[in-house]
Amino acid sequence: MGGLETSCESRRGLEAKIRQLERQEICDVWSIDRAEVIDNVYYHEGGELVLKPEHCDVQGWPPGEPERYGPILLDCFDRAGTFHGAFEGETLIGASVLESCFIGRESDQLQLKFLHVSRRHRQAGLGCTLFGKAVARARELGARRLYISSTPSENTVRFYLRRGCRVTDGVDATLFELEPKDIHLEFDIPV
Ligand SMILES: CC(C)(COP(=O)(O)OP(=O)(O)OC[C@H]1O[C@@H](n2cnc3c(N)ncnc32)[C@H](O)[C@@H]1OP(=O)(O)O)[C@@H](O)C(=O)NCCC(=O)NCCS
Repeated sequence: MGGLETSCESRRGLEAKIRQLERQEICDVWSIDRAEVIDNVYYHEGGELVLKPEHCDVQGWPPGEPERYGPILLDCFDRAGTFHGAFEGETLIGASVLESCFIGRESDQLQLKFLHVSRRHRQAGLGCTLFGKAVARARELGARRLYISSTPSENTVRFYLRRGCRVTDGVDATLFELEPKDIHLEFDIPV
């Protein structure tokens, strides 16, 4: 783990190093700036995605999130989940996490468990690169699809739809119970 490092020069000229994270670096994901101004939110109603105006000035991680979700990420790491980090110098500015446990009717899906890029580094290609790393690793592990429980904000859902994700018709009951307001998506991994 932590070996292979790649450089990623974005169209905005930001040069970030992408590499796998060590276990002791997982707590650093909470230093990623989660701030976002949300103006519209998607709802999944009657089989359709419906966009509704809903303003929310997200200032950072929800209170208690590191304490609640940190141990979940460590457990994921311990069962061979794949963690990629994007670094500007020594600073973690984005991360993706791929689960290792197969889910889905045909047990052929892996969950993209986390994908965040710091506010001022968005729209520079890092999200696409980190998403691509998770897809490549899922393919290596033999998965046919990614499962994504997406934050319902317009920008996030659109990001996934533009990558080729679609609303899943095989909602995972456990993941749905955890995040019923999320938009549950799947992505066919190209062979
Ligand atoms: C969703 C998220 C991960 C996307 O990350 P990102 O780094 O902004 O994504 P990218 O920059 O790779 O891609 C975003 C768009 O910018 C475009 N882009 C990339 N480089 C660009 C550049 N230099 N100039 C302009 N646009 C650019 C991409 O092509 C993409 O456009 P498209 O979707 O129309 O194809 C990020 O916005 C985020 O962290 N959001 C808040 C947290 C969140 O909701 N996370 C998901 C939880 S499920």
